[in-house]
Amino acid sequence: MSDRLFIFDTTLRDGEQVPGCQLNTVEKIQVAKALEALGVDIIEAGFPISSPGDFNSVIEISKAVTWPTICALTRAVEKDIDVAFEALKYAKHKRIHTGIGTSDSHIKYKFNSNREEIIERAVAAVKYAKKYVEDVEFYAEDAGRTDNEYLARVVEAVIKAGATVVNIPDTTGYCLPSEYEAKIRFLKENVKGIDNAIISTHCHNDLGMATANTIAGIIGGARQVEVTINGIGERAGNTALEEVAMILKSHHEFDIQTNINTQKIYPISRMVSSLMNMPVQPNKAIVGRNAFAHSSGIHQDGVIKNMQTYEIINPQDVGINDNSIVLTARSGRAALKHRLSALGIELEKEKLDQVYEEFLKLADRKKDINDDDILMLAGAERSKNKR
Ligand code: KIV
Ligand code: ZN
Repeated sequence: MSDRLFIFDTTLRDGEQVPGCQLNTVEKIQVAKALEALGVDIIEAGFPISSPGDFNSVIEISKAVTWPTICALTRAVEKDIDVAFEALKYAKHKRIHTGIGTSDSHIKYKFNSNREEIIERAVAAVKYAKKYVEDVEFYAEDAGRTDNEYLARVVEAVIKAGATVVNIPDTTGYCLPSEYEAKIRFLKENVKGIDNAIISTHCHNDLGMATANTIAGIIGGARQVEVTINGIGERAGNTALEEVAMILKSHHEFDIQTNINTQKIYPISRMVSSLMNMPVQPNKAIVGRNAFAHSSGIHQDGVIKNMQTYEIINPQDVGINDNSIVLTARSGRAALKHRLSALGIELEKEKLDQVYEEFLKLADRKKDINDDDILMLAGAERSKNKR
């Protein structure tokens, strides 16, 4: 039987920390409902102690969404955990996500502490959260730069204390995929009791490796991934949900199942981009404006004859209704004919040649040729013929 991978979406927590992208509660509920329809397993709805707005959003999302688990973030601090539990009171399935920095630099500069004391604080936080909920996730902040032997001791201690999920964040986006895979594998092979918990990835994109690291983590044995829509998140962002979902769908060798309905990917991408006022870069994988747009004549001809020639994903699988053949001066007759046909116009070869000549002249002057231009060219040709 294939393995199940849990999708933990943190668009509304880590994603929403982007300056200028804050959502109000009504907008967060709209995104949460779309995430539920998309099929995510866990929604990280906020960090309730951080502000009354976040607290209230976790309450309202818990009321509005019933299928996914609702998760609230805390530091390894009792007051944070009390407030998180209070905010989760209406959630049908609740999770508290608590944790602490485990790299030497976090231990020394952030906590002015030592390794043993950090393990004690981690264990105490998990035990405290466990009094409230069964489902407790522990994060080892900056695990990416934490020495593996020590990380294994932390993970073993928190699982013994009751953690059901252990999150291994590459907080600074520093790890190489091979390093991150080895880290997860090391935990799988060396932590006593590891099979009582799910290992989670949480990767940042500072060096452009968030998705590669997440996939490497899955190969190493992680069975939960923490992701955001469009890869939004602080600095260079987090792992993009849509990229992981489509990699797993396209690469059958993984034999891993998620609950994601990939046809809902494009609509939610547009929703998040417009509500957060955060444009998606045109060449962004899966959801960028140009992700399925072919402009060179050779590619257009290939796609028209057989889509798979240049496309590894069917755009309809992510909720885009057409692969766009962008008409430019580099497009061939086949692309023009294809577009005319889509607009309901079939031309004889000779007429098509004439329209194509006009089209090339226009395309030299104008960057993108739209449907109105095409109609105008075809119409002009029709009226010329009448004379
Ligand atoms: O990047 C990170 O380490 C985090 C944790 C708080 C989970 O977002
Ligand atoms: Zn993060």
